[in-house]
Amino acid sequence: MTLKTVIMAMSLAAAATAAVTAALPAAAQDKLTVGFSQVGSESGWRAAETKVGKMQAEQRGITFKISDAQQKQENQIKAIRAFIAQGVDAIFLAPVVATGWDPVLKEAKDAKIPVVLLDRAINTKDESLYLTAVTSDTVHEGRLAAEWLAKDTGGTCNIVELQGTVGSSPAINRKKGFDEVVAKTPGFKLLRTQSGDFTRTKGKEVMESFIKAENGGKNICAVYAHNDDMALGAIQAIKEAGLKPGKDIKVVSIDGVPDIFKAMADGEANATVELTPNMAGPAFDALVAYKKDGKAPAKWIQTESTLYLPDTAKAEYERRKDLY
Ligand code: AHR
Repeated sequence: MTLKTVIMAMSLAAAATAAVTAALPAAAQDKLTVGFSQVGSESGWRAAETKVGKMQAEQRGITFKISDAQQKQENQIKAIRAFIAQGVDAIFLAPVVATGWDPVLKEAKDAKIPVVLLDRAINTKDESLYLTAVTSDTVHEGRLAAEWLAKDTGGTCNIVELQGTVGSSPAINRKKGFDEVVAKTPGFKLLRTQSGDFTRTKGKEVMESFIKAENGGKNICAVYAHNDDMALGAIQAIKEAGLKPGKDIKVVSIDGVPDIFKAMADGEANATVELTPNMAGPAFDALVAYKKDGKAPAKWIQTESTLYLPDTAKAEYERRKDLY
């Protein structure tokens, strides 16, 4: 082959590649890079969300840069600024608290970087600061938990509540939904309520103090925890107080992590409302579609909330144990 034919062959190949590339949508041509400011690793659910997010990114050929904020808003703000400086294609944010985001989100908007909220909402008057929010209906989750408890106890129960992180949208809303049902159930009494910061350790500590203050736990009919990890800490505290979790004190919580299904199968927990750890999948789909045709997705992409009871706990545990 002469030099001339080699160059001609190379040009033809280049032209063919250019034609194929031009036919591809923009999002497929440029590999997307998404920066994710994750809250931290406070719960089993959070770890699963991170793991599933990585899997979902890999399936789509997206580069997913994760920054762990260790539960601090200031770290999240720094991470968002770093992502802006790197010129990522989008930013995913799981906001530790609901307020205080406008200035940094305005910086992202000015840099034309879309922001997608994952699993938690923010308080803002300017909805143009984020593209969409992929979250469950967290008020509904609180209602579901309380309605189950009302049905199970015939509407008479002295309850203690373990709240999530102060100022976070799931803590605010899961309390709101639960309180709505308490208000219309005359036999329900909320004895005590305190934050356990969504962690197993703090859930246990706070439950110990509730038990101490409530006649060694004998006044308590049920504990409602805003997540499973705090419920699992509470179960430990109940056992150490010489009582039977799931029987002497009922346990209802939110998330649907494998350990709570195990506890339900063992008779130590009574109900959980599942929160899917797959928040990133719908977020990537919305983002790719947006990058492709410029059509903004709905402002809220709602994930399902399903109540699970002990009858299916063993099977649900088996189904999830490897995912987490
Ligand atoms: O925002 C979702 C909540 O955050 C989960 O219920 C909890 O486990 C996590 O820490």
